[in-house]
Amino acid sequence: MKQAVAIGIVGTGNIFPAYLKTLQRCPRVRIVGVADADAALAQRRAQEAGVPARTLDELLAGEAELILNLTPPLAHHAVGLRVLEAGKHLFTEKPLAANFAHGRALVEAARARGLRIGCAPDTFLGAGAQALRALVDAGTVGTIRHGSGHFMVHGPDDWHPNPAFFYRAGAGPMLDIGVYHVTHLVHALGPVRTLRGSAHVTHARRPIRSGPNAGQVLEVEAPTHLVTLLGFAGGAEVALTTSFDVWRHTHAPIELYGDEGTLIGHDPNTFGGTVRWAVGRGPWQRAPGGRPYHQNSRGIGLIDMALALREGRPHRCSEALALHVLEVLDGAVEAGRSGATLTLTTTCERPAPLAGRLF
Ligand SMILES: NC(=O)c1ccc[n+]([C@@H]2O[C@H](COP(=O)([O-])OP(=O)(O)OC[C@H]3O[C@@H](n4cnc5c(N)ncnc54)[C@H](O)[C@@H]3O)[C@@H](O)[C@H]2O)c1
Repeated sequence: MKQAVAIGIVGTGNIFPAYLKTLQRCPRVRIVGVADADAALAQRRAQEAGVPARTLDELLAGEAELILNLTPPLAHHAVGLRVLEAGKHLFTEKPLAANFAHGRALVEAARARGLRIGCAPDTFLGAGAQALRALVDAGTVGTIRHGSGHFMVHGPDDWHPNPAFFYRAGAGPMLDIGVYHVTHLVHALGPVRTLRGSAHVTHARRPIRSGPNAGQVLEVEAPTHLVTLLGFAGGAEVALTTSFDVWRHTHAPIELYGDEGTLIGHDPNTFGGTVRWAVGRGPWQRAPGGRPYHQNSRGIGLIDMALALREGRPHRCSEALALHVLEVLDGAVEAGRSGATLTLTTTCERPAPLAGRLF
């Protein structure tokens, strides 16, 4: 058996425990250290996990082959570059970077050094997205011509203790959560070619309604309601709405309309969920179950990348996919603000479907 892939982790905040749980189940990877700008937090997390606490410098100088970056999006570019300059492969939380230019710089730095980048979200490796993909590939509802995607909530200003970040450039509903919808759509339908739409800052100032900062007023930079028409290279057009301005709605997260029928996808921010299809006016049918990864498996994309390194095959959460998705996210804001039709400069292959468990 080949040696387990040595992984170092930078960033031990909210999402860290979910990754830890997945990684600790896989005998083909081992965690060689964790680091955080908050050294006390890193110490505490390390102790709980039974792994060594390190500084980032120590992690980068040590035996790790692959660094998992769980810092906030605004730090992805700077931390990612340090990882690549140290000669390590990088897997980063979403989005690849806070803007397309920074994402492209990371991919160029990796390619120049012969290193790999992997990037979340990896929810498309879950049971729900794989079931939807199988229905598309089998032609169950014929050629997909149109579709819709919806992520609409009333923003985090009434529940998150520190919601300012969500309203700054580099965030907003499109970059923070639309990344899941766009990644799942590209996984199902292939790359996007054009974008047009609208983008609004509906309320330029938003009061924080609860928590330690209640009463403060946030200045909103990022558009909070975007309607984007994604024109796929394969011919389909999907209208995606992402919003922090909607209290309630009844739309499905993803609907795809084919010549012969309709497919309904699950929430792409999760791994499993009900996927349905109907042919013509026939009854709704549930996609067959039995696929792996229907519960929270964040980190499975990193494991796929670690195994791919050993097996000499492409990894599914690839840098090409992540950079293309980031261009779509950034482009949706730009196209929405300008009203122009934008033609994308990047493309990618659809990731290989996942037939069974990875290990
Ligand atoms: N929290 C979630 O539910 C969730 C879900 C999916 C994805 N994500 C993604 O995960 C990433 C992290 O999110 P989070 O919620 O865990 O954030 P967080 O703020 O809870 O944790 C981030 C950690 O990174 C550390 N950090 C920041 N800059 C650093 C640097 N330069 N060097 C070393 N450490 C640094 C911080 O001290 C903090 O402990 C983000 O990209 C986010 O989009 C989060």
